[in-house]
Amino acid sequence: MIKVAIIGGSGYTGLELMRLLAKHPAVSLVAVTSREYQGRSISDVFPSLLGVVDAPFMAPDVDKLAAEADFFFTAVPHKAAMEAVAALRSFGKRVVDLSADFRFNNAAVYETWYGPHSAQELLAEAVYGLAEVYPEEISRANLVGNPGCYPTSILLPLIPLIQAGACRTTGIIADSKSGASGAGRGLSLDVLYCEVNEGFKAYKVASHRHRPEIEQELSHAAGHDVNISFTPHLVPMSRGMLSTIYAPLKGNPTTADLIDLLSNHYRDKSFVKILKEGAFPNTSHVRGSNSCHIGLKVDESMGLVIIVSVIDNLVKGASGQAIQCMNLMLGLAETTGLDVLAL
Ligand SMILES: NC(=O)c1ccc[n+]([C@@H]2O[C@H](COP(=O)([O-])OP(=O)(O)OC[C@H]3O[C@@H](n4cnc5c(N)ncnc54)[C@H](OP(=O)(O)O)[C@@H]3O)[C@@H](O)[C@H]2O)c1
Repeated sequence: MIKVAIIGGSGYTGLELMRLLAKHPAVSLVAVTSREYQGRSISDVFPSLLGVVDAPFMAPDVDKLAAEADFFFTAVPHKAAMEAVAALRSFGKRVVDLSADFRFNNAAVYETWYGPHSAQELLAEAVYGLAEVYPEEISRANLVGNPGCYPTSILLPLIPLIQAGACRTTGIIADSKSGASGAGRGLSLDVLYCEVNEGFKAYKVASHRHRPEIEQELSHAAGHDVNISFTPHLVPMSRGMLSTIYAPLKGNPTTADLIDLLSNHYRDKSFVKILKEGAFPNTSHVRGSNSCHIGLKVDESMGLVIIVSVIDNLVKGASGQAIQCMNLMLGLAETTGLDVLAL
């Protein structure tokens, strides 16, 4: 059994990591940290784990934790992650980081959007953890920067279409909606029940930090710089994410042609499902699972394809994908411990 630890286990992605790792056949969860709940039983804080994960939360003391575990997930906010990861790498530990700190190839891009990066020397070794796109690189990596949730929902359908030359790389628009857990478990006025319930709003219009991440990966797929327009929205549900993507077409492919293209591209990938013509996904179809469901239709009058993609932001958008990356890094089948159906 591989000994695994979670730094930042009292947040939403930490809870999802524990829920999924508790049933993983090849790893043993040996330490989970929280400063706020240090010393309290994990199942006191999260009763859904009663009888499954009862050990106490530990302090995020990397020197001590490095002696306990072989493999680490860092599920803390950006900036806090870079410090913990740098210390873990100095002990030779393999890490999947769920924050944005190791998603960028270019430190200047990170610093424009997030501020100073204190572990830039690690960016060269970090691999972007989109498991369907970089499986070989991830399997050799010691450090994976797990993708953001919005980027995952947008990149999975777009990358194969761009690589196949089926759509143009100018004029792409992504209109995305997320449940409130995307903001984390910390107290914040914006995600209080009365602020979110029975309302629906756009936020960070044309200024969300996930845009440069999406552009980095689309540019990599295209072989040249790609810009997109990206608008996120907060919807009154606890988890789930739906992206509607408008991509101008090259040539005159039909809906069936593009469904065939994506279906062939993902035929050996367990977690990406391409829906038949006329069908579109619902966030409830992937809730709690590591799946991404994609439906699409060509709008001939506009010369574009409209793609609808759904994931659970906490699973394929965070903790499930992080475990998928861990599986690849450990030489396991990437589906190990992740064959959970939607709730
Ligand atoms: N929520 C999502 O849908 C989602 C999706 C993709 C990626 N992510 C990313 O995943 C990471 C975790 O997200 P989350 O939603 O789980 O956040 P969260 O609910 O706010 O939890 C954050 C966790 O980090 C710990 N923490 C905070 N500051 C820390 C510090 N300075 N040192 C050590 N531990 C610290 C917190 O516990 P204590 O304060 O008790 O120590 C808590 O366990 C973030 O970087 C986020 O951007 C989140």
